Amino acid sequence: MRAAFAFLFAAFLGAASAAAQDGRALFEARCASCHATEADAPERPGPNLAGIVGRAFAADPRFDYSPAMRRARAAAPAWDEERLARFLEDPEAMVPGLWMGGNGLGQAGERAAVVAFLRNAR
Ligand code: HEC
Repeated sequence: MRAAFAFLFAAFLGAASAAAQDGRALFEARCASCHATEADAPERPGPNLAGIVGRAFAADPRFDYSPAMRRARAAAPAWDEERLARFLEDPEAMVPGLWMGGNGLGQAGERAAVVAFLRNAR
């Protein structure tokens, strides 16, 4: 009985870290070609996302944002997790005319995992 409990607990911990891992893997597969998450990383085709949760909208000083993002910046509040998830569901719907095309995430689970990963991206 005790061994079974220990086994279940280990499986639970394994699943929890697999979920955290998923966000990183998803980001690597779907976002990292355009976005870095380390503040001092070389520039990529998209803005740097270090500290994006809590950061102002369109605020990477090294990135030349589209007119659509620059127009939205004045009105948009800082990014929080809920807003990031909504953006990733359909970037074009939140910022019509932005330069990110169809590179959102279709599934809610994927969005949650990537947002959880970005929360720790500094
Ligand atoms: C093909 C390149 C590309 C891919 C892939 C891509 N993005 Fe982007 N992303 C961009 C560009 C370019 C911008 C800036 C858009 C603009 O200026 O109109 C942007 C903007 C953003 C912003 C707003 C940043 C800010 O400073 O306010 C976030 C957040 C973001 N992307 C997250 C993601 C995530 C998460 C993924 C993966 C699911 C992803 N992007 C995939 C190119 C990409």
